[in-house]
Amino acid sequence: MGAPKRIGILTGGGDCPGLNAVIRAVVKTAVNDYQMSVIGFFDGFKGLVENRHTNLDIGKVSGIITVGGTILGTTNRFDPFNYPILESGEYVFRDRSDQVKRNFEKLGLEALVCIGGDGTMAVAHRMLQKGIPVVGIPKTIDNDLFGTDVTFGFDSALTTATEAIDKIHTTAQSHHRVMVIEVMGRYAGWLALGSGIAGGGDIILIPEIPYDIECVCNKIKQRHYQGKYFSILIVGEGARPKGGEMVVRQRVQGSPEPIRLGGIGNKVSDDIEKMIKTETRVTVLGHLLRGGVPTPADRLLASRFGVVATQLVAKRKFGKMVALKGQEIKSVSIEEIGGKTRTIPLDSQAISAARSLGTCLGDQV
Ligand code: F6P
Repeated sequence: MGAPKRIGILTGGGDCPGLNAVIRAVVKTAVNDYQMSVIGFFDGFKGLVENRHTNLDIGKVSGIITVGGTILGTTNRFDPFNYPILESGEYVFRDRSDQVKRNFEKLGLEALVCIGGDGTMAVAHRMLQKGIPVVGIPKTIDNDLFGTDVTFGFDSALTTATEAIDKIHTTAQSHHRVMVIEVMGRYAGWLALGSGIAGGGDIILIPEIPYDIECVCNKIKQRHYQGKYFSILIVGEGARPKGGEMVVRQRVQGSPEPIRLGGIGNKVSDDIEKMIKTETRVTVLGHLLRGGVPTPADRLLASRFGVVATQLVAKRKFGKMVALKGQEIKSVSIEEIGGKTRTIPLDSQAISAARSLGTCLGDQV
């Protein structure tokens, strides 16, 4: 059997810079190298349930490599296996995966490229089991996807976070304040640790190392004794005190990502003010980290992922997700990915480097 003639593509989960670069790479490779036609589904698997799509030709993807977000739209709320339907004024959850399969087949598609994080990969794997030939491409600013060394989107978010920390540094210094900067990242501290080191942070709190607030306060006091009357504290949204819980902002029923974190920055700031009566301020970087122009590194990684994913489709090597392993783009089985989180290993060089730089990670001064 030759390469598929007609394929679908969708972007699922939270958006990130580089999604358009991938869509462009898949469409260009599919059309130029394999004469395939490509159908783009709107808003992830929701568009497949609702049969909303568009033809993607070279013209539609021209000029989008620099553009943030996704031209296809996305959602991190809808799981086709547990899909919300309004019945008599109330939402009930139904399995709509058969509808996905019917729509896929009616359009004469032979493959589906799913760009997303762990939630999207978990759904893609279940679709594979239902007989839809899928290939996955990993994205997320969190960099927490199992099976790949890096996801695209991470470098852009890291750049935005570091630039923000740089700006906060000067005002922290002028006002002699403790500045708390909360960054996204869910249950992994890649963004917090990376931007914290790059931005010269004094204290970095990550989900992998539960913090002791006394330790944090002692670090701030130590800096005071050394004549440094300000401190920069970066906290990942999934960080938690020793023996305490993460701060949950919202729960989304039926979502492949049901827990939304947020609010730990305010907690840390309040606790510091209570313990050492020093003036603190909080900046939550939030969705700022998901927006903007992708960095060159993300454009490059996204483009390489898109090309290799399309080559896998052409060879009908389904059930795979493309992955960066060292310097090479390889592929891993999609089955291995969903439902797992790649956190920072406690013995990693990044953690020991932060300690050698004198950064407090919340467990020792
Ligand atoms: O996974 C990407 C991410 O930005 C996480 O860092 C964050 O926890 C979550 O999505 C936020 O989701 P929402 O866009 O629903 O607020």
